[in-house]
Amino acid sequence: MKLIKLDAIDSTNDFLKALSSQDELENFTTVTAENQTKGKGQVGGLWKTEAGKNLTMSVLVKDFLFNNDKVFNLSVLVSLSVAEVLKSLNIPDICIKWPNDILSYNKKLVGILIENTLKSDGRIVSVVGIGINVNQTDFDELPNASSLAVISGKTFDKEELAILIVEKLKEKIQSWNTSAQIFWDDYFNFLFKKGIPTAFRDNNNQDFMGIIQGVSPIGKLQVLLEDDSVVEFEIKEVKMLY
Ligand code: BTN
Repeated sequence: MKLIKLDAIDSTNDFLKALSSQDELENFTTVTAENQTKGKGQVGGLWKTEAGKNLTMSVLVKDFLFNNDKVFNLSVLVSLSVAEVLKSLNIPDICIKWPNDILSYNKKLVGILIENTLKSDGRIVSVVGIGINVNQTDFDELPNASSLAVISGKTFDKEELAILIVEKLKEKIQSWNTSAQIFWDDYFNFLFKKGIPTAFRDNNNQDFMGIIQGVSPIGKLQVLLEDDSVVEFEIKEVKMLY
C-alpha cells in the first residue's frame, strides 16, 4: 500500500479526493496527517483532535461500490475492520454505534466519514476517512470521547495502527464476494445497544424508547417501538441518547 504522510493539512479526505481526481492512484493509497486544520466530521461538523497525538487518515477505495444503493456495505466493512483491529490490540468493550462510530465503555474513540464520488464512466471512488483518538489524554472539552491511551494506559504507534487497519480493510474487500453475510453478522455482533431498551431523539426533538433490532441492507436502523411496530430510520432522522 502507498502511504503519504503529511505534517499538516486542512483535511486528509479533501487532500486525497483532490489527488485522486488528478492522478490514477493505486487502490488503498493512504494519507495520514499529524494535524488537520479543518478535519471534517459527519453531517457537516468539524472533527477536532489534538495535533500530533491522534490518527487522522484517509484511504482510497476504488471499484468496490458499483451501485449507490449499496454504499452502506463499505461503511460496514470499514467500521468492522477498525473494531476488529482495536479488539486485537486488547482495547476492551469495543462497540459500533450505528452507523459507524466506534466506542469503548460508551465513549467515542473513532469517527468515520466516507465520501463517494461517481466518475463519468459510472465507477464510484470512495475516500474513507478515519479519525482515531490514539494518544490524546485530555478530553475536558469532549466528555463523550476517549482514546486508546486513556482506556488502556498504553501509547500506540499511529503508523502501525494505520497499516493494520488498511490491511484488514483490504482483506475484507477482497473476500467480500464470498463473505458478505459473515461481515454483516460480525458488524451486528459489535452493534451498540442492540436488543436493549434505548432512548432516541427524532428530528422534531421528540424523545422515545425503542429496541434496536438490526440494520437494513441500505443502512437504516431498525427499531422496535413500544406499540410493537418496527420502524426504519435514516441516519439524519434519529439520534441515540446515551
Ligand atoms: C465523525 O464525525 O464521527 C466523523 C469524523 C471523521 C474524521 C476523519 S479524520 C480523517 C478524515 N479527514 C477528515 O477531514 N475527516 C476524516
